[in-house]
Amino acid sequence: MTDFSYDDFMQLSEHELVPHLNDFSVLFAQQFSREKLNHLCKVADAARYIRRTSAGADFLAGLLKHYSVLNFFVQPSSRTFLSFCTAESMLGMRRLSVRDINISSIAKGESLSDSIHTFISYVDLVVMRHPDDYSGVDAFWTTLKSHRRLTLKGEKCPIPIISGGSGKKQHPTQSLLDIYTLERAFKDMGGIDGKTIMLVGDLKRGRTVRSLSYMMKEYKDVSLIFCAPEEYQMEKDILNFLDDNGIPYKFANSIDEAVAEADAVYMTRIQDEWDSEKKTDGSHTAAKEDFIFTMENLKQMKEHAALLHPLPKRDEIEKEIDYCDDERVYYWRQERNGMWMRVALIAWLFKVDEEILNYKLHNRL
Ligand code: NCD
Repeated sequence: MTDFSYDDFMQLSEHELVPHLNDFSVLFAQQFSREKLNHLCKVADAARYIRRTSAGADFLAGLLKHYSVLNFFVQPSSRTFLSFCTAESMLGMRRLSVRDINISSIAKGESLSDSIHTFISYVDLVVMRHPDDYSGVDAFWTTLKSHRRLTLKGEKCPIPIISGGSGKKQHPTQSLLDIYTLERAFKDMGGIDGKTIMLVGDLKRGRTVRSLSYMMKEYKDVSLIFCAPEEYQMEKDILNFLDDNGIPYKFANSIDEAVAEADAVYMTRIQDEWDSEKKTDGSHTAAKEDFIFTMENLKQMKEHAALLHPLPKRDEIEKEIDYCDDERVYYWRQERNGMWMRVALIAWLFKVDEEILNYKLHNRL
């Protein structure tokens, strides 16, 4: 299916790799068109309505009951792991998991590619979180080379790989749920088009904000504000991408400076697990004062604005905000949206998304 050698394939840029993905695997935020994003939001909404009745829950659980999935998560994860597991079980999939690289054969020196080849001998989907930026590409190459194929609606497909976060660069499914959350937050105001989104925190090593920036290309008249201490500012490759695609952005030196202009504020934590000197006393790098979202900032936000965070959070949002009963605080709903979006994503990969939409239509839900 690919003439590329492993080494040549691994040399391709994300941009060059996108056409090879061909809807078989989900590795990069750039692979989603506006049409696909809208479709996935629609399927997520449909699944959420359908699951409200027990007949609907049974319908969903019948869709993929003959398929199995491995959740291969060898970096810490709570939400992504659990929401994938829940989404998979809602669709009736049989689930296996590997969460510790030290108890897989990789600890015996097996290559990632050989391990993936083994996994896909047993399961029909691999969801993976891995510290290497190109781990998903490695896995995808292996699925192309392996002989196993799924037949989905008459089409032969390699075993899909979904990235649940790879290295510092990409977290496409987080961005899908972020898009879904933003679209819901702005549903009476024309959706994401025309909005200003402020990204705050560790933009340099945060894969969520990088992937979300890529997806902004699909929306009209969006502008971005990057609010980070200098050492954590957004990397040049993303700024170049925004320049090339005519997406305006600016920088802010504190949340105070720009919060009143933003339609959405997307907070992130300092990603200190990437620091060369790891802390051994359990402490974490504190967020700097100018980059901590306070009750005062909540007052300064626009009336319709949304406060998001991919979570986990630490000290970058004032504690009182968590349960202050303000409709603009979206992060708890955002994490639940992740589950519905992952139902939609898996359904789409396995080509049962239209069945979900039709069920909703026919049952007038
Ligand atoms: C994020 C991640 O893993 O990149 N978490 C998540 O998936 N919700 C953000 C983070 O860890 O800070």
